[in-house]
Amino acid sequence: MKERNERHVAWHTSCVAREDREQMNGHQSCILWLTGLSGSGKSTVAAALEKELYKQHCRTYILDGDNLRHGINRDLGFDPEDRSENIRRIGEIAKLLADAGIITIVAAISPYRQDRDKVRATCKPGDFIEVYVHCTVEECERRDPKGFYKKARSGEIRHFTGLSAPYEPPLQAELVLKTDEHTVYDSVTQVMAYIRSRQLDRSSLEKETES
Ligand code: ADX
Repeated sequence: MKERNERHVAWHTSCVAREDREQMNGHQSCILWLTGLSGSGKSTVAAALEKELYKQHCRTYILDGDNLRHGINRDLGFDPEDRSENIRRIGEIAKLLADAGIITIVAAISPYRQDRDKVRATCKPGDFIEVYVHCTVEECERRDPKGFYKKARSGEIRHFTGLSAPYEPPLQAELVLKTDEHTVYDSVTQVMAYIRSRQLDRSSLEKETES
């Protein structure tokens, strides 16, 4: 076991603050944390949402669980411990991006409530916006975009979320997107309305600067 080194490592403060970056960007940053079953539509909604934010000249970045597992998280599997570490790392990256002034969209199953709550607890209040991408497991299995439900049913993939591994839905998500009832466009509209209501968007910051 390696010794943890926080005690003997300093923290360096930058001369450019997050608020300066936000001012330059013309909008505030935050973490939109999309959680839900495989096939629920997290990546699809994330991509459509990013496109809409881009159209509104917002700086964004998507942290997609699948993609990160090709790189920084390639050493991790799918047992509870590795999933926790996966979420911890994604949370740390998301916090850095938010500090860089970027609207950060996370799309990761993040099946354990405790792991998501841990990230929330280490974020600046209000930064962590939990978005439950809700879709029944039956509908996710019907969609099966990657063919993984089929593989899980045949035993080729073990500990598959929703079938042979748990998914713990959020208890108090800021937003719930019902992708089995509404279109992708509806989901994006819902998130954009939330962003406006929190005055995180470009027009709100512009108004603040004018007054
Ligand atoms: S998480 O549970 O640790 O948050 P993450 O979002 O990074 O998962 O990765 C999930 C993706 O890995 C799924 O979209 C799917 O493509 C793939 N995958 C492979 N094996 C599993 C499994 N056993 N359970 C869930 N997803 C899996």
